[in-house]
Amino acid sequence: MSKRSYYITTPIYYPSDNLHIGHAYTTVAADCIARFKRMQGFDVFYLTGTDEHGQKIEKVALEKEMSPQAYVDGIVVGIKALWEALLISNNDFIRTTESRHEEVVKNLFQKVYEQGDIYISEYEGWYCTPCETFFTERQLDEGKCPDCGRSVEKLKEESYFFNMAKYAPRLLEHIDQHPDFIQPESRRNEVINFVKSGLDDLCVSRTTFNWGVGVPFNDKHVVYVWFDALINYLSAIGYLDDKEKFNQYWPANVHLMAKDILRFHAIIWPIMLMAIDLPLPEKVFAHGWIMLEGGKMSKSKGNVIDPMVLVNKYGVDAVRYYLVKELSFGQDGMYSEEMLINRINSDLANDLGNLISRTVAMISRYFDSRIPEPGKEDNADQELRTTALRAYEEATEKLEKLDFASYIQSVLRLISRANKYIDETQPWLLAKDESKQERLGTVLYNLLESIRIALIILSPAMPALALRANQQLNIFADPDSLKWEEARAWGLTQAGKLVSRGPALFPRIDLKVLDEETPEAQETVEGHREEESNLIDIEDFAKVDLRVATVIACEKMKKADKLLILTLQVGEEQRTVVSGIAKAYEPEQLVGKRVVLVANLKPVKLRGVLSQGMILAASDPQDNDIEVLTLDRIESGHRVK
Ligand code: MSP
Repeated sequence: MSKRSYYITTPIYYPSDNLHIGHAYTTVAADCIARFKRMQGFDVFYLTGTDEHGQKIEKVALEKEMSPQAYVDGIVVGIKALWEALLISNNDFIRTTESRHEEVVKNLFQKVYEQGDIYISEYEGWYCTPCETFFTERQLDEGKCPDCGRSVEKLKEESYFFNMAKYAPRLLEHIDQHPDFIQPESRRNEVINFVKSGLDDLCVSRTTFNWGVGVPFNDKHVVYVWFDALINYLSAIGYLDDKEKFNQYWPANVHLMAKDILRFHAIIWPIMLMAIDLPLPEKVFAHGWIMLEGGKMSKSKGNVIDPMVLVNKYGVDAVRYYLVKELSFGQDGMYSEEMLINRINSDLANDLGNLISRTVAMISRYFDSRIPEPGKEDNADQELRTTALRAYEEATEKLEKLDFASYIQSVLRLISRANKYIDETQPWLLAKDESKQERLGTVLYNLLESIRIALIILSPAMPALALRANQQLNIFADPDSLKWEEARAWGLTQAGKLVSRGPALFPRIDLKVLDEETPEAQETVEGHREEESNLIDIEDFAKVDLRVATVIACEKMKKADKLLILTLQVGEEQRTVVSGIAKAYEPEQLVGKRVVLVANLKPVKLRGVLSQGMILAASDPQDNDIEVLTLDRIESGHRVK
């Protein structure tokens, strides 16, 4: 018997320009689901591609004095390279200029025409070329495109029309009987209201330009680009020439896209499928947009983010992780490089990276690098195991629903529980007591198991992670073919194998790389020291000379909006310290306060001022809120330990 199949698609993108992080958002999300389903044992077909016809592409190519085909060929090379860099595991890449696609478009246009659902008439109305969408006068928003706000052009031409209204009652009935057909729920209601407000027949051909699939029985016309594009979901799986493949994968399980093009997928596409007598896809899912702080990304604003640059800078796993975590169910997400760095530092370097490096370091130190056998289980162990099982169950449920952010949350909870387990079980104390050897082995084994499960669960989002981590952990026989079910079982890690210490999987990134400060200042402003944190002995800690110090004067550093210059009284001595806390404190707020000084830090010059130590402060992960540690009773000059 053939394996259960699973067919998932992204929109086919316009190759009018290079793609940006918004397109990567959808493609990474769909890839995450495709990988999850493959890990579950499904026969997955993951399709993406390019929508190469239409007036917009023709216009852009003309501006570059190129033929549309030569122009899109160049862009498509870049798109394919981008998907490779992002480890997108698509099974096919369909281009609407391929003959395997054009044949199907012609065939279906003819079929629908012959059965009387397409008829010729005259179109008079408005067209938005960037959106490749027709509008009636009353749909315009103050004379502009209601979707993108740009200018529209008046069209009056002979056109073929597709009789959509005829199918509206059937579509409403289908939506009603299949509550999951359009997701999320709020979008479903929008579509229902739109259909109920009455559907105009759709203009499905153009005569004023040539760059499209010719209408088979009238060579003055090319097929409307959306009618052409939607058919890619059928042509790629062999609608005309490979019946077996077609039957294996159709109907699609999910068409994924952002909300901008939901109407095409939830109204026009289902009606086209009804007209050609094919079953409808199981689900059409519209996620939100990824926004920048200044609003939507757009070429004209000059704020388009190239995902390739980010992959080269931060690594594919980190970029994918960020995108998946930002995909909260149907809501808009946010992108800023600062937020990306903060996620890497807090979730990946601090929480996951540290968990792995601490565990490997302890197995190296206490068991000569050999993975210990687990012994008897106690309550803390059981709780950890239950948390792991819950993470597996929740991640499965959330991925099934395409609730990406919650999926990531479920595994973050396991990672955080495992870090807490280290603090509770205190392996470094167990190591001091010969009689606690078995307990120590159990604790370290359980940590490895939690890590193993977390890595499996994360791998749809971060496909390179397991392989990289396994070079240190040695827990996977084949990290490239992990099975989802293996995250459900506890105890699959084999004792006796050797771990080996290695570089930090996610080195901390200094946020200061984003500032336009002098190189000196970038080096040493408090709070961002980047070593991989490892366990230290009490002797190591004692090397840090922490002292109570009274702030006797404070001023802003000129031309540096984050820095304050503090004069400190430390016992008999006075010190000057430059501190990156100006966003949280006015200078006068600090005068008179007793703070904690790292007194034996090597002095450094910051913006020409010699900083003799640093003061301790806590901050939230984004460094938006900073609080300096203060004392009330103990005198200046006394030690903090
Ligand atoms: N060619 C049509 C789709 C035809 S599908 C049969 C098209 N192409 S597009 O290049 O404009 O891609 C739109 C899609 O790109 C969105 O639906 C979404 O999947 C993705 N995104 C583009 N910008 C985006 C954001 N800023 N945020 C999230 N997704 C974005 O429409």
